[in-house]
Amino acid sequence: MEKMIRLDKFLADMGKGSRSQIREAARKGRILVNGEPEKKTERKIAPGMDQVFLDGIPVWYKKYEYYMLNKPQGVVSATEDNLHRTVVDLLGEGPDGDLRRDLFPVGRLDRDTEGLLILTNDGELAHKLLSPKNHVDKVYYAQVKGRLPADAAAVMAEGMTLKDGTRVMPARLEKIALQNPGEWEEIRLTIHEGKFHQVKRMFEALDCQVVYLKRLSMGALCLDETLKPGEYRRLTEEEIRLLGGV
Ligand code: URA
Repeated sequence: MEKMIRLDKFLADMGKGSRSQIREAARKGRILVNGEPEKKTERKIAPGMDQVFLDGIPVWYKKYEYYMLNKPQGVVSATEDNLHRTVVDLLGEGPDGDLRRDLFPVGRLDRDTEGLLILTNDGELAHKLLSPKNHVDKVYYAQVKGRLPADAAAVMAEGMTLKDGTRVMPARLEKIALQNPGEWEEIRLTIHEGKFHQVKRMFEALDCQVVYLKRLSMGALCLDETLKPGEYRRLTEEEIRLLGGV
């Protein structure tokens, strides 16, 4: 059985408002537990066993939820930030704004990076995806300024050394298009770890600069290209299963 949790936490986690909004709803008799009005929001309930209604509508318990976001530039991959909007703020502002309160991003993309970001409240799956020992593939599309050395793919395939001496694991570089020789190129890069600013630092080590970066996939999960930057959707059961098989 699920562990007992406070009624106000349960409702907040299920996206039914802030704790103070929930207290107010309880005071007005809008919350029923097992058919009886409940005013004490600190009381504990057994999720999935006790029946909770808010304004006459049952609040179903979901242990875990999973979303994919096409992260836009300008928001930070965090749950809170004093300066910038976060990916969690962005989900809360979306069309189904009453999302649960305990979601967090699985890993980080830089503020100016776009693309696939998973948000969930499933700590175990997040750990699995991020653990360096699992070598989960991450595929990025980048626009790179500067002249890439002819042997760039071979250097990256060997495992390279960054400017500060950090070694990174072998990675696969594919050139997609040479836009303007010596000016910028489009590439796809697959890495198997997630060091801080890793993609940017790998190109810096080759005296090039990433001017645009987008994550296309993580493990078996690909970004749904119908999502515009800033849009998100729930993962399908099949996608959750694929991710869990990491
Ligand atoms: N590598 C980077 O340099 N930045 C990201 O956001 C992700 C990978």
